[in-house]
Amino acid sequence: MSVKSIGILGAGQLARMMALAGMPLGYRFNIYDTSGAPSAGIGTLFSDPSNTQQELNSFLAEVDVVTYEFEHLPLDLANTIAQRKPLHPNALSLATCQDREREKAMFTELGIPTPRYRIAHSADELRRAVDALGLPVVAKSATEGYDGKGQAVIRALDEVDAAWNKIGHPRLVVESFVTFSRELSVIAVRGAQGEVKSYPLVENHHHEGILRYTLAPARQVSATHADQAADFITRLLNRLDYVGVLALELFETPQGLLANEMAPRVHNSGHWSMNGAATSQFENHLRAISGLPLGNTEAQRPTCMINLIGCEIDLKAVTALPDCYIHLYDKTPRPGRKVGHINVCAETESSLHERVRQVLSVLPSMPDYPYA
Ligand SMILES: Nc1ncnc2c1ncn2[C@@H]1O[C@H](COP(=O)(O)OP(=O)(O)OP(=O)(O)O)[C@@H](O)[C@H]1O
Ligand SMILES: [Mg+2]
Repeated sequence: MSVKSIGILGAGQLARMMALAGMPLGYRFNIYDTSGAPSAGIGTLFSDPSNTQQELNSFLAEVDVVTYEFEHLPLDLANTIAQRKPLHPNALSLATCQDREREKAMFTELGIPTPRYRIAHSADELRRAVDALGLPVVAKSATEGYDGKGQAVIRALDEVDAAWNKIGHPRLVVESFVTFSRELSVIAVRGAQGEVKSYPLVENHHHEGILRYTLAPARQVSATHADQAADFITRLLNRLDYVGVLALELFETPQGLLANEMAPRVHNSGHWSMNGAATSQFENHLRAISGLPLGNTEAQRPTCMINLIGCEIDLKAVTALPDCYIHLYDKTPRPGRKVGHINVCAETESSLHERVRQVLSVLPSMPDYPYA
């Protein structure tokens, strides 16, 4: 199959960055949006907020292969598409990653450690889950969560009803609260022939439920943890017969790594690779889904990704700084909205922290920089 034209479901910044990475390969991009609020600003847009068969047909007629930028897609849409064009990652991967209960079951099946958990379909079952797991717990809607939405931390038994009502979802995954030393993630890509390449483990820092900084590579990772992370994600990729980029979020604890969740797509914690790795996650995803050899996933230099959340930046001030790469998504700032990111690179880790601090000094109201 020779790929010329790629279809992307979803029209946000991830679609935009995939298209930006794929144009040098000579690919054309067609973007299918059902949200009514596309922001990608690139490629040919098929806007279909009322879900008409006609618009989907026109989109499919244009593309050789289809991928997606978010996992909260209706499964029947994915299955319909997969009957007509190659869909990567496949529908099994989508179904598994969009449902925390299935995801946890797969971690368990593959021997990948994950926080202890129970499923709850009512406030009573939530109470029983708390009894079984012990306090505190984190209750999460089984589907549709992102950026920490649809979750509640329960620290006392009398908070159960309020948590159930606040989340407002018929099925919850209830997890033991993990006191992690830090959050890590690993991103890997599996090609059409089953070959796998992993990016190094990176370190993630969240603020108010949203990723704010990624440090790549993560500092002082033991060889055991590096091997385990690559092994966990390879098992998942193979089990799912996956093609494309997969992200796996991990908690590092004194007892070892625990898998938190995975995402069947390019991931915010992989944005550093646009300037810190030889081949970005976006290009590698496209290489995989179009049957090309995979590119080098090694980190070339220490890089920090700074997420820009709901703010405007002084472009003149930031572009004046060295080794600082700006990626704006052309989105109107609103509180909590991801509007861009900046990758800061340096030759050594200590010069990186210095450089990040310089960048932060010209950005408005950023959370504390946690890495030095
Ligand atoms: N079991 C847990 N114990 C302690 N903290 C947790 C637990 N589960 C989640 N968290 C915290 O909440 C954050 C968000 O949780 P999770 O990744 O499951 O949700 P999400 O809504 O999919 O988030 P995102 O879109 O940012 O990936 C985690 O990054 C972590 O900081
Ligand atoms: Mg997460």
